[in-house]
Amino acid sequence: MTVKESRVFYLNQQTEGLPNVELGEPNSTFRLVTEELQPLKENEVLVKSLYFSNDPLQLGWIRKASYENAGIRRIFPGEPMGGFGLGQVIESTADQYKPGDIVNGALNWADYSIVKAGALTGKIPDSSLPLTTSLSTIGLTGLTGYFGIYGQVKEGDTVIVSAASGATGLVAVQVAKALGCRVVGITGSDEKCKFVVGLGADACVNYNDPELIEKLKQALGEKGTCDFFYDTVGGELLDKVMTLMTKNGLILVVGAISGFKDVTKMYVKNWPQVIASRLTIKGFIVSDYLHKVEEARVNLTKWIQEGKIRNDSSVLNVIDLTEESKFADIPKAWALILDENKKPGKVLTKLADPE
Ligand SMILES: NC(=O)c1ccc[n+]([C@@H]2O[C@H](COP(=O)([O-])OP(=O)(O)OC[C@H]3O[C@@H](n4cnc5c(N)ncnc54)[C@H](OP(=O)(O)O)[C@@H]3O)[C@@H](O)[C@H]2O)c1
Repeated sequence: MTVKESRVFYLNQQTEGLPNVELGEPNSTFRLVTEELQPLKENEVLVKSLYFSNDPLQLGWIRKASYENAGIRRIFPGEPMGGFGLGQVIESTADQYKPGDIVNGALNWADYSIVKAGALTGKIPDSSLPLTTSLSTIGLTGLTGYFGIYGQVKEGDTVIVSAASGATGLVAVQVAKALGCRVVGITGSDEKCKFVVGLGADACVNYNDPELIEKLKQALGEKGTCDFFYDTVGGELLDKVMTLMTKNGLILVVGAISGFKDVTKMYVKNWPQVIASRLTIKGFIVSDYLHKVEEARVNLTKWIQEGKIRNDSSVLNVIDLTEESKFADIPKAWALILDENKKPGKVLTKLADPE
């Protein structure tokens, strides 16, 4: 093995609210250690980290409280912290990977991870698309936006997308437009609304606007009601949008980001509206659709090439930590997704270029 050691982030303690991403404090969420790399066992791969995907989902993995049977990953104190990432194979005892391959999958927050071959999603196919596509537009978040819309809506539907400037929302907006829907985004600022309209949405409304419901109604056009709500926010916003649903409309519950700081904020109170409007509320987890990833890849690639889906730097926020001394900032780069002032787009952390 040519590489002898790696810097690795471990979970120091689980969080109740937001994580403390400072290092070396009594309540630090993470700790950084340098450790020796062990020789590879059978069917293992040594991967050099290139990019990490920063996802709100990871907060659920390290939280004290979680949902029973939700099937979500958990990370406990003393275990390496990680997430979805893109890396380059340095050494492999697995038949399907060889040094130099670019792979994605579950990687530790480390310079190098030793992973079981099964923890990798696969090699990045040769493509004219930028490498980062496999962590953004055709990564977990892009696929969430895709499967949250494709097969769920029909041409001519009125669709509302919440958190529309975020990584999943921005893809959901564009897929719904590509399928011929009238699309209205919701975000937390007028500036972000401009971004969403720039993606092709017919309209976008700032959820802080005191006339939110009236403006959404207008934005829905002649119909004035919403056939399909792609929701990643929950709580008060969901309560409000429920009043705008078409009779027999469908609400796809993809996330509940309003409860990330305080879980009580994600609770829904407008239950009678579900009865009055005969609504269907459907929970969604992207991993249920993995058998259709190839089809999604083909469609998304075609739409990117046709200019219907943006896949350039305007939908990415790349935090560059390639400088050796910046490695310790990995938790801070991740925590940007929990910041109220998060910029539009998918947040990625860059550690290195492929060799
Ligand atoms: N079910 C699944 O399979 C699946 C898969 C991936 C992600 N998700 C979920 O989808 C959600 C979005 O993920 P993402 O990767 O798109 O995140 P992201 O890129 O970090 O974007 C999240 C957006 O949420 C908005 N937001 C944050 N707090 C809010 C609040 N209190 N009220 C309203 N909007 C708020 C922010 O924009 P504003 O300026 O608009 O507030 C932010 O841009 C998360 O809840 C995540 O867990 C679910």
